[in-house]
Amino acid sequence: MTAAGPCRVLVLTGAAAPFSRTRTAAELVCREIAGTGSTSVLRDLAEHPLPLLHTEADGSADLADLRAQAECADGMVWVTPCYHGSYSAILKNCLDHLRPQTLHGKPVGVVAVGASLTAVQASEHLRTVARALGCVTAPTQVVVVHSGSSWEKDTDPRTDDRITRMIAELHALAGATALLRRGAAMTDALSSADRA
Ligand SMILES: Cc1cc2nc3c(=O)[nH]c(=O)nc-3n(C[C@H](O)[C@H](O)[C@H](O)COP(=O)(O)O)c2cc1C
Repeated sequence: MTAAGPCRVLVLTGAAAPFSRTRTAAELVCREIAGTGSTSVLRDLAEHPLPLLHTEADGSADLADLRAQAECADGMVWVTPCYHGSYSAILKNCLDHLRPQTLHGKPVGVVAVGASLTAVQASEHLRTVARALGCVTAPTQVVVVHSGSSWEKDTDPRTDDRITRMIAELHALAGATALLRRGAAMTDALSSADRA
């Protein structure tokens, strides 16, 4: 994977509301990725609900599918609504299901959508989670603040510019973190061999 090469990006969107602006933001991200010649998989966590961590349904097909998508992604974008000053619970539950070995060194872009500037907090909190998982976050984060019902009317025109910048950074990071990710995969393989 080179910095200039096409990437596979897994876009996770964590809102279950109908007519979700978070989903719209995720679609804008996917459109931007397509424009760069890379590919994206949009995984709407409302359409593919995951069991709560450590519940009996832990072995669901959706979970296996998510883990496979995360494994082969060169980068990810996490898109969340802001709920009570932070990211959504379904997004966190999804991240809790992913193994740190899968995410170590993975470039991550963060997008938060809210009704006020509190949405910045959701974005910052996601960065903290990304750091805990060993991910490398794109310096540009996208925070969308809306005040009404229409996305078109409310979206700051700079949102598109920030998405473009964040996706460009994700591509650069995919090249820069390749060694880190290979190292994590090797450590993972070695510890599996130890266990065998
Ligand atoms: C339970 C709940 C808590 C919320 N808390 C916040 C908040 O703390 N800050 C904020 O800016 N918006 C908050 N909002 C507004 C949502 O972030 C906003 O409407 C966002 O667009 C929701 O995403 P959606 O359009 O994808 O449903 C909250 C909404 C709900 C339902």
